[in-house]
Amino acid sequence: MTRTIDATIPKVAFPNTQDNLRLSFFIHGIVPGDVLLVHSSLSQLGWVSGGAVAVVQALMDALTPDGTLVMPTHSGDLTDPAEWQNPPVPESWWQIIRDTMPAFNPQYTPTSAMGQIVEVFRSMPGVLRSEHPALSFAAWGKHAELVIAGHLLDYALGEASPLARVYDLGGKVLLLGVGFGNNTSFHLSEARANSNKIVTQGSPVFINGERKWVEYKDIDYDASDFVKIGDDFCLEEKVTPFKVGAANCYLFSQRAVVDFATGWIKKERGSTAPAIQLP
Ligand SMILES: CC(C)(COP(=O)(O)OP(=O)(O)OC[C@H]1O[C@@H](n2cnc3c(N)ncnc32)[C@H](O)[C@@H]1OP(=O)(O)O)[C@@H](O)C(=O)NCCC(=O)NCCS
Repeated sequence: MTRTIDATIPKVAFPNTQDNLRLSFFIHGIVPGDVLLVHSSLSQLGWVSGGAVAVVQALMDALTPDGTLVMPTHSGDLTDPAEWQNPPVPESWWQIIRDTMPAFNPQYTPTSAMGQIVEVFRSMPGVLRSEHPALSFAAWGKHAELVIAGHLLDYALGEASPLARVYDLGGKVLLLGVGFGNNTSFHLSEARANSNKIVTQGSPVFINGERKWVEYKDIDYDASDFVKIGDDFCLEEKVTPFKVGAANCYLFSQRAVVDFATGWIKKERGSTAPAIQLP
């Protein structure tokens, strides 16, 4: 039987290792002390000795404990079933799901569609995870506490989110084998551009130890033009791809990409929604 890992072996002449990954990160501009937000695909690297563990350790080695490593640990399953499209569930199930789905717990709620590198990272010693039930982030290193603190339920990728803290800290984004469609920082731009309508979302959380279904406000996120924004950003800022192992990668300033996309979205989508008011 062919396994998907088999396809990773012919992608590289020699195995990726923790040490040659660290060196490659360094050569391409990831230096000790950086605040780095990573979106990743393990298989795109080609075969790695030690798999996801080696990749996370190589990132930590490149940053050193003076740096800060951040990854999205989203758990999209912990949302209102009325919104699910992939797959949708029968309407008669919605209330049963709202009443029974286990509450978010940063220690054991798995991530969804974030990849193996993220799953390994979130469980490593010293890694902290923010409290948002659907759109949490995990962080390690010097500014980990600051990055995950105060992640509000409302407007989860806006001003009271780890994305905005990475922005404040002048962080970088590494797209490791994935494209700009996965550049979550564009959602901070959407929040700042006031271009999307506001919707009500719901999730199961613990409040004083008791499981509760809570409703909160967010914007109607729309990633449909993120690849186009990324193309335009790369042209404007002269950002070019490079290889780590077999993976196509991009590294850029998160402030630059967020500011560029905020202007792009205002211009192309219009800025018609009311400004977000945080509680
Ligand atoms: C969805 C996504 C994670 C899939 O990437 P992927 O490479 O197929 O999957 P993972 O990163 O989980 O890696 C697992 C795969 O790595 C491969 N693999 C396993 N061991 C490996 C090793 N030692 N070396 C290299 N590859 C290996 C296998 O093909 C494995 O697939 P399998 O689980 O089906 O066997 C990726 O495309 C993506 O979108 N990442 C970004 C997520 C994100 O940040 N989103 C933004 C939030 S809005």
